[in-house]
Amino acid sequence: MSATTEIRRPVPPDIRARKGGTPLVVLTAYTTPVARLVDPHCDIVLVGDSVGMVLHGLPSTLHVTMEMMVLHGQAVARGLSRAMMVIDMPFGSYEESPDQAFRNAARLMSETGAAAVKLEGGEHMAGTIAFLTRRGIPVMGHVGLTPQAVNTLGGYRVQGRGEDADRIRRDAAAVVEAGAFAVVLEKVPDALAREITGAVAVPTIGIGASADCDGQVLVVDDMLGLFTAFRPKFVKRYAELGQEADRAIAAYAAEVRARTFPAPEHVFGEEPVRK
Ligand code: KIV
Repeated sequence: MSATTEIRRPVPPDIRARKGGTPLVVLTAYTTPVARLVDPHCDIVLVGDSVGMVLHGLPSTLHVTMEMMVLHGQAVARGLSRAMMVIDMPFGSYEESPDQAFRNAARLMSETGAAAVKLEGGEHMAGTIAFLTRRGIPVMGHVGLTPQAVNTLGGYRVQGRGEDADRIRRDAAAVVEAGAFAVVLEKVPDALAREITGAVAVPTIGIGASADCDGQVLVVDDMLGLFTAFRPKFVKRYAELGQEADRAIAAYAAEVRARTFPAPEHVFGEEPVRK
């Protein structure tokens, strides 16, 4: 037995019990070093299928595969010791049938160590969510803007404005009724997100939704300002690391061209230096 006190990592029932409490902090991570950075500050770290667009330069999340999710999930797991890990089910890995969803969710959990999966969709996915949760797979729902449905939604627009609000209300209610332990509300109007948060029994996690959600999630690369061109309204930049990296890389290139790097302190002499 070690002398240090083991930190008990949250599990889905702990997250569910946080309904109406201190807001849940959620960020994405796709690699071990970033997982290490976000772990001390987050309740949940999401291995999002946004990895396809953010790290692999893909045009949408539709091209993300199970293999990519497993590889990034394993990398993130190596960097976490406190936060709970949730992993996205990629497009095409769960929509066909509850059996297909179970097979792929079980693989994601067993090969990465994730505590839960997230899948997109409302009423039409409720049967699958119920099937998974009854078989030991905790599910985080995701309604509102569901990026995997970009082609049927016709873009990345705000969802649930005007008469469309009722569709989002029904979607959120259906996934919660089916057994989801939390639900992401993406790009829905502030008032609607607040209303849904008040109506459902599990935590809502907002992204482009409302400060009154039970938690917030952002893509870590967006909030760190790693992509200078991508500036959606719902992302607050807490740093401008893209600009900082650009300055550093430009300085390196200039010094290489001027032969001022490497300097004497970066090169080796004949004799090994003994410490
Ligand atoms: O893939 C992702 O990163 C997500 C969150 C932004 C909610 O689904």
